[in-house]
Amino acid sequence: MKVRIVDNLNGETESLNDSDADLVATLIKENTKAVNQGEYSEAELEILCAFATPEKIQQQAAKGFLVLLFSDEGNLIGCALVMKKWTRLFIRTIQVSRKYGRKGYGALIYQHCEERFRTAGLQEIEVQVTKFPSSEAFYRKHGFVRTGNPTQKDLYFAMYKFL
Ligand SMILES: CC(C)(COP(=O)(O)OP(=O)(O)OC[C@H]1O[C@@H](n2cnc3c(N)ncnc32)[C@H](O)[C@@H]1OP(=O)(O)O)[C@@H](O)C(=O)NCCC(=O)NCCS
Repeated sequence: MKVRIVDNLNGETESLNDSDADLVATLIKENTKAVNQGEYSEAELEILCAFATPEKIQQQAAKGFLVLLFSDEGNLIGCALVMKKWTRLFIRTIQVSRKYGRKGYGALIYQHCEERFRTAGLQEIEVQVTKFPSSEAFYRKHGFVRTGNPTQKDLYFAMYKFL
């Protein structure tokens, strides 16, 4: 297993190559569609995955914090993207490929994100959570609480955790 971190939160120092951007975009799109059990319509899924193109992932990685977890064989197991929101940070997404699910990889990826919030001196973590029950369960397990505030077009809700 190998963790790769692209950290551009304090200015761009590292770019994401085309093939990794492609892997991340594919993982997010395929995973989101595979997890969907009717929580989102086809049209909503398209909106939900609109940020997952290789170009947009590269643009976001150029301003954010990206965690990539690869298997020994070089497969992308999962990823996370932390972005800036004014002076704060939020977890934009954490994704683990279904075939690697429930083995603790999500937790491992999440720990890298939490650590980055701590080093940024922040005292709370906000995450943009999809309506999939497994997502909410995952964040609850890590101590997040749901605020109930719907966000952008009601596709996500926010959960928070104090550090
Ligand atoms: C949420 C997600 C990142 C968890 O990844 P993971 O590697 O399975 O997570 P871990 O193994 O570290 O933790 C497992 C926990 O996640 C939750 N979970 C994961 N898959 C689940 C499922 N199919 N059903 C119910 N809960 C699930 C549970 O809380 C579980 O704990 P448990 O096994 O003790 O019940 C992964 O399921 C995923 O990519 N989901 C789709 C994308 C998404 O919606 N991401 C989050 C929104 S930003």
